Amino acid sequence: MDCASGWAQALPFASMLLRQCPTFLTPILGPVISLPCYWYHRAYVKILQPEIIRRQRVFDGTTKEQKPNDFLQWQIDRGAASGIPMESEPKVIDARMLAMNFAAIHTSTFGLTQTLFDLLASSEANISALREETTAALATTDGEWTKSVVQQLIKHDSALRESMRQSSILSMGLVRQVMNPDGLTAPNGTHLPCGSWISVPTNAIHNDPDLYEEPQIYRPFRFSAQREAAAQTEIEKVPETEDPKKAARDAMLKKANLSIVSVGPAFHPFGYGRSACPGRFFAANELKMILAHALTHYDIQMLETRPPSMWIANAQIPPAKATITIRRRGGVTKS
Ligand code: HEM
Repeated sequence: MDCASGWAQALPFASMLLRQCPTFLTPILGPVISLPCYWYHRAYVKILQPEIIRRQRVFDGTTKEQKPNDFLQWQIDRGAASGIPMESEPKVIDARMLAMNFAAIHTSTFGLTQTLFDLLASSEANISALREETTAALATTDGEWTKSVVQQLIKHDSALRESMRQSSILSMGLVRQVMNPDGLTAPNGTHLPCGSWISVPTNAIHNDPDLYEEPQIYRPFRFSAQREAAAQTEIEKVPETEDPKKAARDAMLKKANLSIVSVGPAFHPFGYGRSACPGRFFAANELKMILAHALTHYDIQMLETRPPSMWIANAQIPPAKATITIRRRGGVTKS
């Protein structure tokens, strides 16, 4: 994990530095500036490659040992099933693992940290509402975490979506290059020649008062309130012969476009279109579970003011030096 997260930190830093250098110097400066990336990559490969080779040998279809059910094993199986020898090369598999860690580590950490700061600077009533939601959802399965429990956490979903709306990492999203040799002509007549880079102002769109009411105010339940209202309207319309719970569930599903994973022109912290983040469904489940666990297992001191986010180049990141005070519920206080 240290090597993967070290690589994930070193890579954007190296790329940012390289972009400041004149292009003719990049062949000379590139290898020097990216030395930390090579170092982390080598250390990572040293740990992972023997495990890939071991698994390829042990799980060759002849063993009775239970296969691990994890991302590494899926990659190994996918490589074997493809029938393409290169897909099973350990160096290809470990490069994929590293790239996936790169896509997943900071994005998820930042999303959760921003949400915690937002919630702690809001009101205790919000924290209580989230705790109640977790308790009620877990009561349906005698305390066992299941997919259905996570789906019931619509207030958590909303709080995370609201933080990603206000504090998305991206100031500019959907960065794309025009590939059509004839270029593209935008609806307003602007011609974009082949090779031009384009993007949209994600952060400005997410905070646009024409799209969101009072966008500067953090309302953790902005989206869940709309989903609940839709469900209530549906219950009221249900004839006595039908099940109101089912009607409410159907209405909530119809409002799934307000859940965190649902991206569109007015909400795209995960990108949009064909290249939209494929990891967002995993991230949403992971973040909801971590948030629910943190709030139900720890008392966290509320904050008087929201520590402001920081900007590194065009990326908005959580305040690196801000601290919170936590106490295991019924335990010791730590900062
Ligand atoms: C809160 C967490 C996350 C955020 C905010 C996030 C955000 C993004 C964004 C903005 C993109 C670019 C999309 C575009 O250009 O339209 C992206 C792409 C991608 N993400 Fe995520 N991501 C998150 C978590 C994850 C996780 C957990 C994984 C993997 C387990 C993942 C895997 C990927 C991959 C593979 C791509 C490239 C997709 C492609 O180019 O086709 N992401 N993500």
